[in-house]
Amino acid sequence: MALWGGRFSSGPDHAFKQFNDSLPFDYQMAEEDIIGSIAWAGALQQVDVLTAQEHQQLVTGLNELLLEVQQNPNAIATAGDEDIHSYVEAKLIEKVGDLGKKLHTGRSRNDQVATDFRLWSRKTVKQLLAAIASLKDALVTLAEKEFGTVLPGYTHLQRAQPVLFSHWCMAYFEMLERDEARLESALSRINVCPLGSGALAGTAYAIDREQLAVNLGFDRASRNSLDAVSDRDFVVELLSCASISMMHLSRLAEDMIFYNSGEAGFIELADSVTSGSSLMPQKKNPDALELIRGKTGRVFGAFSAMMMTLKALPLAYNKDMQEDKEGLFDAMPTWLACIHMAEACIKGVKVNAEKTKAAAQGGHANATELADYLVAKGIPFREGHHIVGELVQVAISEGKNLEDLSIAQFKAVCDVIDEDVYPVLELQACLDARLALGGTSPTQVQLAISNAKKNAEFT
Ligand code: ARG
Repeated sequence: MALWGGRFSSGPDHAFKQFNDSLPFDYQMAEEDIIGSIAWAGALQQVDVLTAQEHQQLVTGLNELLLEVQQNPNAIATAGDEDIHSYVEAKLIEKVGDLGKKLHTGRSRNDQVATDFRLWSRKTVKQLLAAIASLKDALVTLAEKEFGTVLPGYTHLQRAQPVLFSHWCMAYFEMLERDEARLESALSRINVCPLGSGALAGTAYAIDREQLAVNLGFDRASRNSLDAVSDRDFVVELLSCASISMMHLSRLAEDMIFYNSGEAGFIELADSVTSGSSLMPQKKNPDALELIRGKTGRVFGAFSAMMMTLKALPLAYNKDMQEDKEGLFDAMPTWLACIHMAEACIKGVKVNAEKTKAAAQGGHANATELADYLVAKGIPFREGHHIVGELVQVAISEGKNLEDLSIAQFKAVCDVIDEDVYPVLELQACLDARLALGGTSPTQVQLAISNAKKNAEFT
């Protein structure tokens, strides 16, 4: 049954109906629509639109429907109603008769859909927060397990300076911590109740909207009806949180794909997150990570699509806004699945500490140490930088690392260099030297790990 039709003399064209209907995707908000309707029925009773008995009957009918949709959520998608709001109302009328027709008093699908979508978003944010916390835990666990493993740190994909593998783990921990904070902050703006805003101008019934908001678990009621029914900045914000976090996950994925490559051989991914080739029997491909990297694109796409859709829309509600859902319905589960997959990859990874160490030792990654050594001997850094550059050239032409040059070779370029240079060039010395806050020295990384664990205990 359509929710409108009184002013129409013919029904919608089949193609238009298909074009216009949102039930095939907004059925995912069935529970939220029913829960919102139960709260609305309560509000209507408070203002005497419903008697206590009518209210009871409606709530019983809605609760029955809630059980039905929970048992068989996917059946709704093809029911043929225009949208989830029409579906719920029609089903309620089937159950309780004409009384069901009273439920929409003082309410519009415009405040209803905004409420449902915020409830859906809130539920989803909670799942995402839990998933991020769990991925952070996995990174800390790996950081602890691999404490002491040395990794070549890169800039421009060239070996730059050695870092602890745990420092790498904790770098992604930091990014996820910000993703988490962004999402928590977004939640405070999502968790505002538009119900009772009517179609655009507010409702003509003396509803206690603050109480209604509390009943639905919102922090407060929205303050402006025009804004409440027509803005979807909370959707944009969520998609932006998703995009930023997916950007982080894609970088994690890319690092791990490279580390797992035959060329690097720093890590080995678990069989459980890799797949084989139909042709090449030797292959073990990092599909989970490649899909995380790949799916990042479609989350970014959903974000820009929402921005485009909302741009220059006049107030208040316009049907364009129905386009808010599919992007978010796709992006949020995609993001969630990627977080879960990243966790599976981190949990199953094996690190080849010998290979990472050998790679960290090559590539003249201790050149900065040598420059700092010259600074300690009174040579200005810029000059020291030049001298070390020359020494690197000597090392390259000899096919050696810097620490393998003889004193005579060092002195041929710079005579202040002495035997005491060798301990400075050791890998461990390079790490130990980075002892200011946030550096890769074992003490700093240990501090980062223990802070992370302490904060986790409080959450
Ligand atoms: N299906 C619509 C949406 O998702 C619900 C609101 C419809 N409101 C209206 N006045 N046609 O946006």
